[in-house]
Amino acid sequence: MNVEQFVRPDIAALEPYTPIQPLDVLSENLGIPIADLIKLDANENPFGPAPGVLKALASEPHYAIYPDPDQLRLRRAISAWIGHPIERIICGNGSDELIDLLMRVLVQPGTSVIACPPTFGMYSFNTGVVGGEFVAVPRLADYSIDVAGIAAAVERTSARMVFLPSPNNPTGNSVSRASVEQLLALPTVLVLDEAYAEFSGTSVADMVGHYPNLVVLRTFSKWAGLAGLRIGYGLLPEWLIQHVWKIKPPYNINVAAEAAALRSLAEADILQERVAQICAERERLYAALVELPGLQPFPSQANFILCQVTAGDAATLKHKLMQQGILVRYYRNAELRNCIRISVGMPEQHERLLSALSALLPTL
Ligand SMILES: Cc1ncc(COP(=O)(O)O)c(C=O)c1O
Repeated sequence: MNVEQFVRPDIAALEPYTPIQPLDVLSENLGIPIADLIKLDANENPFGPAPGVLKALASEPHYAIYPDPDQLRLRRAISAWIGHPIERIICGNGSDELIDLLMRVLVQPGTSVIACPPTFGMYSFNTGVVGGEFVAVPRLADYSIDVAGIAAAVERTSARMVFLPSPNNPTGNSVSRASVEQLLALPTVLVLDEAYAEFSGTSVADMVGHYPNLVVLRTFSKWAGLAGLRIGYGLLPEWLIQHVWKIKPPYNINVAAEAAALRSLAEADILQERVAQICAERERLYAALVELPGLQPFPSQANFILCQVTAGDAATLKHKLMQQGILVRYYRNAELRNCIRISVGMPEQHERLLSALSALLPTL
């Protein structure tokens, strides 16, 4: 009996997503203590969670009880924070889970999803998981989106969804409000993934509810430093959110994540001050990177900077940095033209990064 043949052929053929390795694994592989690693590869928040989060986690009394499947307390707090009624809000195990759930509701074999590479890899990955057709509408030379190209692709493929991060990962640029308005006229669901919106200060969250086909996704992973607790949320129109509720795993937000997110919202002022510091540090890092011969950074509105390596091979540079315990993200694909992506960290981490880059770039 060959039970392996039961695997769906499309899943058998699916390329796995390449995630980031955790600190302890990296430390073991590199033989460098965790404390000496400079982790600038996953756009995490260098400050960590808000000051009161650890205390909130320690004093949470109900870890033996299943969490609230309706996420009521958290949705109420998010509602007060973002200014939308709770009926429009649903939380996910990271915004990753919401991307997956939205696709499960809207996409099936024979239907298409559009995204604009270079962009976040989960859109094409999740399209594959649900058996849909992924349609790439490449960005223009300056990494802005090709609005006319998207419109033509929607017409050609009748795509059910278009995914646009704003700011985009990994290029760091945002989608203009005017482009969003143009795209909302198309017969498709437009998902604005605002994972990094707190760093850009721009958002189209206020437009949700005014258009039947606009979804906005947000996360606590970046601005609130809770990537390890997995918590994101979406603002969805009513006709769509009811179906996402039906298929959502009932206990997708665990008790710890809920407690941490509630505390983060209570300490939002402190978190926003840190966001401002990260943005100021991003500008300082950008100014220093521009000065390095052999590296061409792109301006960013997020908490990372994409850099084209003009001195030589970007993969070699990533590897050499890694041997020194400095972790950055490298992209192999053609659209990214030999780039690395550097997450914004602390000033002392940047000092080590910059001196390593100055030494390594001439050797490539
Ligand atoms: C554009 C974009 N969307 C979503 C996510 C996932 O965020 P979360 O941690 O909430 O799943 C990321 C994470 O890097 C991202 O870059």
